[in-house]
Amino acid sequence: MVIDACHEERADQRPRLPVRRAFTLGVVGLLTAAGVLTLAGTASAASTLGGAAAAKGRYFGAAVAANHLGEGQYAATLDTEFNAVTPENEMKWESVESSRNSFNFGAADQIVSHAQGKSMKIRGHTLVWHSQLPGWVGGLGATDLRSAMNNHITKVMQHYQGKIYAWDVVNEAFQDGGSGARRSSPFQDKLGDGFIEEAFRTARAADPNAKLCYNDYNTDGQNAKSNAVYAMVKDFKARGVPIDCVGFQSHFNSQSPVPGDYQQNLQRFADLGVDVQITELDIEGSGSAQADSYRRVTQACLAVSRCTGITVWGIPDKYSWRASGTPLLFDDNYGKKPAYDAVLAALGGSGGGDGGGGGGRSCTVSYAETQRWGDRFNGQVTVRAGSSAISGWTVTVTLRSAQTVSATWNGSPSWDSSGKVMTMKPNGNGNLGAGASTSFGFTVMANGDWSAPTIGSCTAS
Ligand code: XIL
Repeated sequence: MVIDACHEERADQRPRLPVRRAFTLGVVGLLTAAGVLTLAGTASAASTLGGAAAAKGRYFGAAVAANHLGEGQYAATLDTEFNAVTPENEMKWESVESSRNSFNFGAADQIVSHAQGKSMKIRGHTLVWHSQLPGWVGGLGATDLRSAMNNHITKVMQHYQGKIYAWDVVNEAFQDGGSGARRSSPFQDKLGDGFIEEAFRTARAADPNAKLCYNDYNTDGQNAKSNAVYAMVKDFKARGVPIDCVGFQSHFNSQSPVPGDYQQNLQRFADLGVDVQITELDIEGSGSAQADSYRRVTQACLAVSRCTGITVWGIPDKYSWRASGTPLLFDDNYGKKPAYDAVLAALGGSGGGDGGGGGGRSCTVSYAETQRWGDRFNGQVTVRAGSSAISGWTVTVTLRSAQTVSATWNGSPSWDSSGKVMTMKPNGNGNLGAGASTSFGFTVMANGDWSAPTIGSCTAS
């Protein structure tokens, strides 16, 4: 339950109390020593996702379906905005080798030649996966399965030799949940844990120039599953098993939001000596909350030097694989959504709309816990205008799952359906001169979790 306590009742609590901890969360990469981040756009920046990413030494890709390439707006958006592709289904086992040792590369070749014609990077997806796997594979005994797996990897990689930037050699080999165990699959069940190592060794021999990735979902923050993948990668690096990159699918919605430790998680993998990539990004939602999540993901990648690129899992919402929601950057008519503007601005580009700073107006946020009791604490967010005056601001506050908010002040809150994401707008304190600041506050019932909520970046208007 959210109660808006009036400013007068609460104002006395703020100035008198010592600041316990002050820091900024959520969007990183532009942190200053004071713990403040800036999201101002730059004037002479690239005006497309791919161009802006390239200026940051990265790629920005999309999952592409061969059967849409003939659609004018689809191809035009792909060619204008993106500098990398991943075939959404066309390179999967059931698509290329539906019967044993008989290969059909037609649809995948279409995407590859389109991408090559536009000098786009290509991610190969995916060689060994329990899903979209033809039935004949599961029917094989261990010896045959081993040779079928190695033959599949070798033939597919050799067909595309020299054309693929990075391959998802093994996809989704770990279970969800708290166990960190391997997922049951024909490969796991018949060949044991060693199948992943064998797949990577075979892949290195088949195309020594492609980067070899392990790819998974629900590994985006630190949890039992990502810890298990981390342990595997660490072991591979220690023993010289060839692995170059880890892909983080990053399918998010209100039940599974962008984790607060997303950047830290990318960084710990990078610190093992592998590249990291965001491979299948989509985020259900709309408007500024969705834009803010996309911005955070983009800034996390930019803040990790070995994060080499981001791929969104589709172009317009209408072609998303997700059953519900509007998770992509373009609407059904290829209109650029606020999420698009936010990503472009975060990449340092401009031209896509205001997007949190492209129009010259910008703001920064910083957070401090100002008081703590036995069961709750007060948080204070300071909003400061950039070098131009602003007439409004929007900041999201994402609670930890146990937490609730019992009061807010100095702002006008609205809540998403999960009850965990508060979007705060001004309540009479939206007009700020250049460099001027205001603060809003809230009381969090900790319910055992005393971590700071995640404070999103500030969008100025
Ligand atoms: C999805 C495709 O987008 C759908 O078209 C298909 O029906 C099912 O697979 N993780 C992955 C991707 O690694 O290959 C999946 O793609 C989405 C989840």
